[in-house]
Amino acid sequence: MLLRSLLLFLSRQQWLRRWVENSPISQKLTRRFIAGKSLEEGLAVVTRLNAEGILATLDCLGENITSIDEAAGTRDAYLEALRQIAELHLDSTVSIKLTHFGLDFSERACRGYVAEVVAEAERLGNSVEIDMEAYPYVEPTLRTVTDLHERFGCVRAVIQAYLRRSEADIEVLCRRGIPVRLCKGAYKEPASVAFPRKRQVNENYRRLAALLIEKGTRPAMATHDERIIADVIRMAKERGLDPDRLEFQMLYGIRRSLQRRLVSEGYRVRLYVPYGVAWYPYFMRRLAERPANLFFLVKNLLRR
Ligand code: FDA
Repeated sequence: MLLRSLLLFLSRQQWLRRWVENSPISQKLTRRFIAGKSLEEGLAVVTRLNAEGILATLDCLGENITSIDEAAGTRDAYLEALRQIAELHLDSTVSIKLTHFGLDFSERACRGYVAEVVAEAERLGNSVEIDMEAYPYVEPTLRTVTDLHERFGCVRAVIQAYLRRSEADIEVLCRRGIPVRLCKGAYKEPASVAFPRKRQVNENYRRLAALLIEKGTRPAMATHDERIIADVIRMAKERGLDPDRLEFQMLYGIRRSLQRRLVSEGYRVRLYVPYGVAWYPYFMRRLAERPANLFFLVKNLLRR
């Protein structure tokens, strides 16, 4: 718990981020979790995954930009990603973070940039998954997702099972027909808003998964937790949910054998594939989820 808090604290330290992201060892550090620094490297990973029957969602890494003007660059990067996905006939959505589009500066301007990306996704027959970030962003993110869903339709919201409010949010999203990706939650939140114990988070995940199976539109279960996945499969079978209407999502580089097993059993599996230079906060959250990854990291660094 202490190590997780320390890693999440370090994930927010700009000085460390600047140093590590520019360091020559960065590629060695990140190759397990990150497709590469360029869109081409991201697309190459998606091509390989699609050939194995695995779907993808491409994430151009970045969050909390330092001025609203940078959001135009984020928009352009995603427009290019959507066009390349279409040109190469890949089966991949894109995943975005609203703070990468300037949510810290202006919700209105941020939504304007994101709307351009969603409009292009709609034109190309694709869709945009809108990641959920730390608690202060939950309300504006849900407002934005709802507005974009009404205007374009092709968006998916993310709900974090560690938040106490999530059941109520899922009820509203389901009523509006907005598809949901359910994850446990990756940020450090106070007990006033989030369940502090892992057991409580897991219980809530199962409860929310059941709700999505009952009322959701094309629910996506984002977890590597084998026991939860087995329970979700059981619940879906009991409710007679068509396997086509359920999706499992996992992160690139994590639990690869489980991903392949689910594909071989006929389930839809989508991998979250990050690429780009701004990899530090994403990478540190992956370490915080499983501090044993530190061991693999050190082994990688020592390997010639
Ligand atoms: P849990 O952490 O309990 O792990 C279960 C098992 O999975 C572990 O025992 C281990 O075997 C394996 N595992 C999990 N994490 C690992 C890691 N980093 N390295 C190696 N093994 C690992 N969060 C958020 O707040 N907002 C979001 O928008 C998203 N989006 C998102 C998309 C997708 C596709 C996924 C899979 C996850 C997210 N997340 C997220 C992250 C999520 O909230 C959560 O932090 C991680 O998925 C880890 O939680 P698990 O459900 O895997 O369970």
